[in-house]
Amino acid sequence: MNNHTFAVELVRWWEANKRELPWKNTKDPYKIWISEIILQQTRVEQGKPYFDAFVRNFPNITTLANAKEDQVLKLWEGLGYYSRARNLHYTAKYVSDILNGIFPSSYQDLIKLKGVGPYTAAAIASFAYDLPHAVVDGNVIRLVSRILGISEPVDNPKIHKDIHNFVSNSIEYTSPASFNQALMDFGSMVCKPSSPECKACIFQSFCEANIKNLVSQIPRKNKKAPRKERYFHFFDLRINNDETTIIVQRSDSDIWKKLYELPLLETSDVRPLIELDFNNKLQEIFGINELNFEISFSKRKLTQILTHQKIHGFFYEVKVNNKLEKINPPYYLVKRKKVSNFAFPKIINDYIRTAYNS
Ligand code: ADE
Repeated sequence: MNNHTFAVELVRWWEANKRELPWKNTKDPYKIWISEIILQQTRVEQGKPYFDAFVRNFPNITTLANAKEDQVLKLWEGLGYYSRARNLHYTAKYVSDILNGIFPSSYQDLIKLKGVGPYTAAAIASFAYDLPHAVVDGNVIRLVSRILGISEPVDNPKIHKDIHNFVSNSIEYTSPASFNQALMDFGSMVCKPSSPECKACIFQSFCEANIKNLVSQIPRKNKKAPRKERYFHFFDLRINNDETTIIVQRSDSDIWKKLYELPLLETSDVRPLIELDFNNKLQEIFGINELNFEISFSKRKLTQILTHQKIHGFFYEVKVNNKLEKINPPYYLVKRKKVSNFAFPKIINDYIRTAYNS
């Protein structure tokens, strides 16, 4: 199919089928940027409340720049991959302080921003400024690789370039903002990963994958490296008559940078309780040698899958009978009722939601 037909038919479809989305009726690059970063983490429906909360709390780049990092992370909670939220905050400060609050308006300047890659730069450039930069995300790769009948792995750089060229050569025939939005919507509404709507598809007689009956096999991907498995043993500490617990802020040298969690011991494989050196760890946390504690039981096992790691979390209730009034960072004494004010990784939130009464 030629680029002209593809672009014109795609946008014609979109004009008749477009969705109303809260970030669509704006040319404000700030809001477009926020929505695109959120939508890299979640689907449109789940993304809407996050977008609304973000722009309500931070209506413009200056308010986001002036926010506390903890507040930004808390609003991001549940989306995962907190480095995106951290980059949002960093970039807001950069635009606000260094660029005098003026959002960059060319693709070349947009892509220099931290956390803004080719996809996001193209989205902002087209939606805010109507510049002809085509977006290439997973939806677009799926759609184009099916239409062109590409059976090589799409993570191969040469194939990625072919897909990029196809959409870049098409965008010039239409309005860039409409074309990019149409690409995304078509990819998620019609050319879906599983059970695509081929029978209703406007491209069915052009689509090589459909013609050759290869839709379920395209796009093909290279095998991924296996995820590293990690074993975290978390202590749900009950102190001062069960009113208080201890949380700890993670460093910035590992996953979950600067988020809070329950104190933990990490092991290199599955270990029974008896092999865990609770005493030593608790002495480190409390800074005292004479500790009186009881470990109730391993309450739950939860897992969390990250891009390159699988986290196995084992949770233990540990009742400590020593009184404790003060503790040193990175540890914090927190009332159990107040614990949900902090931003935690998903695995800790899942635990707190089910194991805490508050
Ligand atoms: N996914 C990423 N960006 C999107 C957008 N602007 N509309 C719909 N889905 C999207």
